[in-house]
Amino acid sequence: MKVVVGITGGIAAYKVPELVRLLKKAGHEVRCAATEHALEFVTRVTLETVSENPLYCDLFASGHTEHISLKDWGDVLVVAPATANIIGKVASGIADDALSTLLLAFSGKPVIMAPAMNSLMWAHPAVQRNISTLKSWGIRMVGPAEGELACGVSGVGRMAEPEQIAAVICQGEGLMMKGERWLVTAGPTYERIDSVRFIGNYSSGKMGFALAQALADAGAEVELITGPTSLKIDHPRVKVTRIESAREMYAAATEVFPQCNGAILSAAVADYRPSECADHKLKKNGDEGMHLDLVQNPDILATLGRMKKEGQTLVGFALETDNEEANAQRKLEKKNLNYIVLNSLRDKGAGFGVDTNKVTIISRDGSYKESPLMSKQEVARLIINTVTS
Ligand code: CTP
Repeated sequence: MKVVVGITGGIAAYKVPELVRLLKKAGHEVRCAATEHALEFVTRVTLETVSENPLYCDLFASGHTEHISLKDWGDVLVVAPATANIIGKVASGIADDALSTLLLAFSGKPVIMAPAMNSLMWAHPAVQRNISTLKSWGIRMVGPAEGELACGVSGVGRMAEPEQIAAVICQGEGLMMKGERWLVTAGPTYERIDSVRFIGNYSSGKMGFALAQALADAGAEVELITGPTSLKIDHPRVKVTRIESAREMYAAATEVFPQCNGAILSAAVADYRPSECADHKLKKNGDEGMHLDLVQNPDILATLGRMKKEGQTLVGFALETDNEEANAQRKLEKKNLNYIVLNSLRDKGAGFGVDTNKVTIISRDGSYKESPLMSKQEVARLIINTVTS
């Protein structure tokens, strides 16, 4: 794909060379267009070197038609960072420099924006109104404007990470993972005590469903095996298998894994189940109390780690309270994973039940990638982009 990367004058412009690098690595051709102020934050030489193309920033440099030729050349235009200023200009139809002129000329082709600004500016009604206007015209917002972040979350107005922006661009193409099949586990498991009771946990399944959606959006076929949840997913490339217990999840996952390119196990699987399950409702015992005898469930992740063949990618989750990184790293090696996603319990807004998450992705070679607090959709894209690049 031919990608035009538009850069405006925000501090996040320093992250753009990384975005360009990711796009090039994914096989795209890139040309950059910058505002004058953008070049206060990132240099022309850097942009021309990483994109391997001349920079477009002067409206009058080449006969005033460069915006038209760039518009014809590009399949998609992504503006990162997009300041309040450029958002306002496009919303009002102003074209007074190279990038704003290109943006108006680009109408009819896909435009993506990754807004970045101070949180007070972000909250201003004029900015919010302009964002709504651009969205109503079909301009895709990545990051804070996706509408998935809860109000009051710190970091609002911060630009999406280059990986997320690159993933959205690649997903737009829908080819990034075409032909691949991925397994995702999600939700809690219920371990039956009797005909009406079970041992469960508070997992909502949101993270796993977001992963399945993001994989399918990227072109992959997805086998989603989920424990009890009210969530639904309607995507032609997602096959949902609903199970209840850890053993049922184990059976379903071990059956499909050999046909998969990779697996991401986000389910909160019960480690133990009652050793016996009564087929009727147990009567209370009065003062004697009740004692449950628990036996260990099979470890699905460790089993897939043993089954894993060359070329397959296995990703696990970890929820740790102490020595988080060291424990996660140990789990990664012990279970033969390629990546482990560490859920932080230290942050409000991360973990079970909520719509946001904050994770650290640790790879087998020891590299770390820490995310800010983001929507689970954004975390899903970050994970997928990291484990497939
Ligand atoms: N998992 C699994 N099958 C199990 C238990 C866990 O597939 N029976 C997977 C989860 O889906 C998640 C990861 O393992 O990807 C989480 O592991 P966790 O429960 O944190 O670690 P354990 O290995 O159970 O270690 P511990 O409880 O000692 O922290």
